[in-house]
This record gives sequence, structure tokens and C-alpha cells, in this order.
Amino acid sequence: MTLYDLKGRSLTCLRDYSPDEIRALIEMGLEFKRRYYAGERVIPVLKGHSIAMIFEKPSTRTRVSFEVAAWQLGAKAMYLGWRELQLGRGETIADTARVLSRYVDGIVARVYEHEKVEELARYSRVPVINGLSDLSHPVQALGDYMTILEVKGRLKGVKLAFVGDGSDNVLHSLLIAGAKLGVDIVVATPKELRPREDILKAALDAAAESGSEIRIIEDPYTAVSGADVVYTDVWVSMGQESMREEKTRLLRPYQVNRRLMEAAGGKALFMHCLPAHRGEEVTDEVIDGPWSIVWDQAENRLHIQKAVLAALIA
Ligand code: CP
Ligand code: NVA
Repeated sequence: MTLYDLKGRSLTCLRDYSPDEIRALIEMGLEFKRRYYAGERVIPVLKGHSIAMIFEKPSTRTRVSFEVAAWQLGAKAMYLGWRELQLGRGETIADTARVLSRYVDGIVARVYEHEKVEELARYSRVPVINGLSDLSHPVQALGDYMTILEVKGRLKGVKLAFVGDGSDNVLHSLLIAGAKLGVDIVVATPKELRPREDILKAALDAAAESGSEIRIIEDPYTAVSGADVVYTDVWVSMGQESMREEKTRLLRPYQVNRRLMEAAGGKALFMHCLPAHRGEEVTDEVIDGPWSIVWDQAENRLHIQKAVLAALIA
């Protein structure tokens, strides 16, 4: 297994990771999956280690895949609800990081404001892994590119069309990582919901180096034409409930349905980080249809989580 110099590093945003480091993590994820299916369920490179998992908002995939990943690496993971910790009574993030990192070997955190995961990382002695913030979802993007590589056999030159909320956290990570990996990305989104400027700039800079093409447009049909992958995410992310009416109005023309998938052409696959709001951003016909690889995509979270934990902590 290729091991780059990732030991001891935090992973709060993929902006901090080089293309080679991202590729190494994806290759490791594929290797963990191959070994799992070859019968090596437990690869105890983290025997005797402990992982704290602080969650400020709900999770199914991230929580369970990290917990199972830790178990399969021989480590113990602890799920800690934000409000059950003294954090919920006002203990500072810095003090929490200082104390937890005297006990555990790694911290996974899912937070509302991205600054919180940055602050945890600043005061922690052990690696901090972003399990989703309002800005980004790096471990999701790593798993997604692992899935695309697995299915398409390559990443460079693959055309990914993201249709929906251009300001989405998952999209931000797909843009950063995709640009570094040479994936061509076209985003179809209303002009009110463009990606955050600094993220877009980082993606465009990375794309200039990798030779990939990044475009932000408004028309979903133009975006999906000739796409290898059509990707969407919910219209209303966790914490944005007060914006439901406005975002739903803006995003209604961006539903991924049969008509859009057929317009994409024969080779297009459908991806979604999940959870899906069926009938909003995607129809049942598409998510349950022949285009969909969402369950393989969700499964790969387990194997990429093992790669991230092993590389950063073991
Ligand atoms: N995709 C994802 O992170 O799902 P959860 O919110 O269930 O963790
Ligand atoms: N954009 C979604 C992703 C969930 C995994 C959210 O933040 O709620």
C-alpha cells in the first residue's frame, strides 16, 4: 500500500492536500475494499487506538462508516453528541480539543460552522477529520472519486455534471478534489447559489495545474450533455431549514429526473451523497433506476474511512 507522509495530519479541507496525497488515499481505499472482499475483514493497524467522534448534527453514513471502519482497523470509536459533552454547556472548543486529544488518537467532527472544525484541529494534539461542515465534506468527496475510479477505471478527463445547489458543502469538496484529480466538472446552478468564491478560485487554480475544466453555468440540460456522472445533493442542507422556501423555488428547475438523465446520453451514471429527498432534487425513477450507483457510492464510505484513519493515525 502506498503511504505518503500523511501521519499526524488533520483533514479539515482538501485544499490542504496535494493531488498525490488525494490519489494515495483513494488507492488505499480501493486496497482496503479489495482486501475486505478477499476475506480480510480486520486489518488491525490501529490496534489499541481510540477515536472520538463529535457530532453536532445528525448522520447515518458518516457516523456508522467511521465507527465500523475503526472497528475493522482494531480501534475503538466513541460517538459523542455535541450536547452531551460539556461543549453543550459552554466549555470551549479549544479546551475540549486539548482534553480529548490527551485521551484519544484521532477526532472526527461534524459541525455547523466550518471554523469549529478548524479550531478543534488548531488545539488538538491528534489529527482532526472533518465529517462535514457547512463549507465542505472532504471524506465524502474522497469516497465519491474512489467510486468513480472503480466504475470508470480513470479519473482524468471524466466529465462530472453537478446539478442543483452550487453553494453545497459536498459540491465544494467535489470541486477541490476533482480539479486536483483532473476531473472535468460542470455545475448547473441558479446565479444566486454559486459556489463560494474562495473555493471556486482554489478549484480553478488546481484545474489550471491538472488540465481539468471547471465551469459554472445555469442550464442543467447543457451541463449534463455527454456527462459520465450526473451528481446532485439535497436542496436544503442541515442548518438551512429557514431557507427552505427560497431554495426550493430557485432549485425546482434543477430536479434530476428521467428527462434530464435521458438528455445526458447513454453513458451517464447517477450519484448522490445521500440522504436523498426523493421527489425534490431527484425522482424515485432515477435513484432506483439503471443509472444509479448510489448504494455502491455509500458502501465505499466504509473503505475510504479506513484509508483516512489508517493514513492519518496509524
Ligand atoms: N453522506 C453523508 O455524509 O451522510 P450522513 O449525513 O448520513 O452521514
Ligand atoms: N449538503 C448536505 C449533505 C449531507 C450529507 C447537508 O449538509 O445536509
